[in-house]
Amino acid sequence: MVRRVTRGQFTFLTRSENLRTPHSSYLQHLKHRPFSTTAADKNYERNEQTEKISVTFVDKDGENHIKVPIGMSMLEAAQENDIELEGACEGSLACSTCHVIVMDVKHYNKLEDPTDEENDMLDLAFGLTETSRLGCQVIAKHELDGIRLALPAATQNFAVDGHVPKPH
Ligand code: FES
Repeated sequence: MVRRVTRGQFTFLTRSENLRTPHSSYLQHLKHRPFSTTAADKNYERNEQTEKISVTFVDKDGENHIKVPIGMSMLEAAQENDIELEGACEGSLACSTCHVIVMDVKHYNKLEDPTDEENDMLDLAFGLTETSRLGCQVIAKHELDGIRLALPAATQNFAVDGHVPKPH
């Protein structure tokens, strides 16, 4: 996989996609990516002035408190902070490996409704709950400040311990 950086934005390209792309068509390619329908593609400024919200990821090892720039997806935020959220399809809505569980109904209700495509993928997700979402489709915005997201492996761990996290 190749990460391209251009003036405050970046995109991921598979190695084969990158090799197929002639250098001269680089900018055109960025504007016409075939799988650019995900919320993860929304633009945001990646600089120190960008407003950030507080997000807590709860995984099997405990809590990770991070700051996420407005406009960034939770998948991307997790990956930038070494939190184990796979995101196998890189936000193309073709997997469920970015499954997260919103632990607070108040925040869950502030999310956009999932699309049919997201719901189809969620149906395949391990440990689905009523407040499950795909992390690549949850985009940081002010109303989500303080959101807590559990990774399904964490809920499995809690279940073993007898502490299944319920939305509250
Ligand atoms: Fe595949 Fe989110 S990364 S659907």
